[in-house]
Amino acid sequence: MEHMKFETPDMVSENIDKIAALFPTAITEMRGEDGEIKRGVNFEVLKQILSRDVVDGDECYEFTWVGKKAAMAEASRPITKTLRPVKEDSRNWDTTENLYIEGDNLEVLKILQESYLGKVKMIYIDPPYNTGNDFIYADDFMRTQEEENEQMGMYDEDENRLFKNADTRGRFHSDWCSMIYSRLMLARNLLTEDGVVFISIDDNEEFNLKEICDEVFGGGNFVAQLAVQLNPRGRNLDRYIAKTHESVLVYVSDYLNTASILGIEKEGKMVDEYNKSDVRGAYRLIGLRNRNQAFNPITRPNLYYPLYVDPNTKMVSTVKTDTFTDEVFPDTPDGIKTCWTWMKKKVDSENHLITAERTGNEWRIFRKDYLVAEDGSTATTLVKSLWTENTINNDYGKKAIKELFGSNVMSFPKPPELIKRMAAIGSGQDSIILDFFSGSATTAHAVMQLNAEDGGHRKFIMVQLPEKCDESSEAYKAGYKNICEIGKERIRRAGDKIKSEHPDAKLDTGFRVFRVDESNMEDIYYHPEELIQTMLGGMVSNIKPDRTDLDLLYACLLDWGVEISLSHTQAVIDGCTVHNVDNGALCACFDERVPLSVIDYMAKQQPLRAVFRDSSFAADDSKINVTEIFKNLSPDTKVKVI
Ligand SMILES: C[S@@+](CC[C@H](N)C(=O)[O-])C[C@H]1O[C@@H](n2cnc3c(N)ncnc32)[C@H](O)[C@@H]1O
Repeated sequence: MEHMKFETPDMVSENIDKIAALFPTAITEMRGEDGEIKRGVNFEVLKQILSRDVVDGDECYEFTWVGKKAAMAEASRPITKTLRPVKEDSRNWDTTENLYIEGDNLEVLKILQESYLGKVKMIYIDPPYNTGNDFIYADDFMRTQEEENEQMGMYDEDENRLFKNADTRGRFHSDWCSMIYSRLMLARNLLTEDGVVFISIDDNEEFNLKEICDEVFGGGNFVAQLAVQLNPRGRNLDRYIAKTHESVLVYVSDYLNTASILGIEKEGKMVDEYNKSDVRGAYRLIGLRNRNQAFNPITRPNLYYPLYVDPNTKMVSTVKTDTFTDEVFPDTPDGIKTCWTWMKKKVDSENHLITAERTGNEWRIFRKDYLVAEDGSTATTLVKSLWTENTINNDYGKKAIKELFGSNVMSFPKPPELIKRMAAIGSGQDSIILDFFSGSATTAHAVMQLNAEDGGHRKFIMVQLPEKCDESSEAYKAGYKNICEIGKERIRRAGDKIKSEHPDAKLDTGFRVFRVDESNMEDIYYHPEELIQTMLGGMVSNIKPDRTDLDLLYACLLDWGVEISLSHTQAVIDGCTVHNVDNGALCACFDERVPLSVIDYMAKQQPLRAVFRDSSFAADDSKINVTEIFKNLSPDTKVKVI
């Protein structure tokens, strides 16, 4: 029977698969460091395949920094850590679909790779900006031994290393680039095909971030650099120019996917333009002639043709008849030939939208543009790149925190309205929204608020390092020892507030808390080559003694690529606890010596996946029984053991 592997995916091997699918000739066999033959990429061949000219040098356009290769390798390196459920900190564990994950986001992103691959519609992050005063997480791969030895400053609750990245350090920019690069590489895999990423940043690393994002998401998937006015008064500490805005870089998974970013409903003056009406409702007239003279009979011959107007009804036809008599070409009043915006075929099929108006002796052709479309949706417009509304400035970020906590327990929280605006254009009603630098969980607040306002069921995933609060901070004085405590409490309080303001809304204000931890499995079990006989003798279980059924269940879900937000029920059958996730997505029993009656019960549920402890079966013949029972009762179930 197959074992669960409890290791994050080997991204190198998955990447080789992707290259092999596109360019099989670039795949070769090579000897690894351990002397074993393995598959690899022949980069010389690959380079040549991707170039029309002979490739003989190493020169190419590339953005690089000290440590880039190590950061790339780090993103691909599997880990055996897991997420352990923390029910006592969670809210509405049984019903919620939101997640709050405590830990270093690099590890969390690795752990989520299988379960959330291609499932996240929108990512918003507000990483440390590298101002010279920021603490950044000292990923193992960033430090030389020398740097390791000289103590780098702070530790978080779990003794994870945070160091103050001062701008006097030689690797000031490089370390930041490495930090963000490996995380974005992993985050990209989680995006849906119509996914979108918003990243807040200021001048310090904006250039570097843009280069990195161009590489990670593809330069062709860059959408815009929003200018967000967060400080209308201007920063008074600046020397020459008082900065009033920050940027938000926007990228999509696929620039051609029109579902990536939605328009916003028109309001105010834009609605006033719809000043005509008929039985279908308010509409405006838009000229059918393309005013751009670059589009003309030579460049667009299919769009240059005559239309015929019936002077009595003002209706328009592509064919001249006794009633459609007046010929009109798409020419300017002074005779320059341009073209129509619609092809003849469309003018015929959507003819009810076409009308003519006389100005002087000339006919002008228009199409009707209704405010409310036939499917009931109101006309939308593109969001503009300059965001200056008051409600998205920093004061509102602080105000939101103060309203909930009574004091400023978080420095520089983003305003909920800012993130709500992004979610309104970057997510659908049922989307998953991820923020892996979540701080005080403003993103969760914004998602709940938007759901309350538009009836959506968006789900959030917040990730945050349990970074210690400074003892002199207001947060610490208010009793919050680390930022995760602030984030979780923020969601509770914001959820209650939004619920009280929208009593009729069906809102999910709960969240399941998980914490990154070492594997549930004894080390020895996963490194059998290191197993020595004396250890074997003492080994009663391959599972660490402090781990519960729930720990094992969620590790199995992650390993098997099942979402950890799915519903979960449990039943006691013949003294054994049987877990059932999402009505049969996975059935598990982690008891020792599971009787056949329980296996029978599980197989009858016909789950997609079933999992047991290896030690659940006293002897090999019981394992064979299990296989047989499932084969008979539920042949499609995949059965594994841990
Ligand atoms: C600029 S703050 C985000 C503030 C947030 N947008 C808000 O409105 O409260 C960045 C956050 O990222 C967290 N962080 C930094 N490195 C991290 C890491 N490696 N993993 C998870 N969180 C991290 C920091 O603790 C900090 O709370």
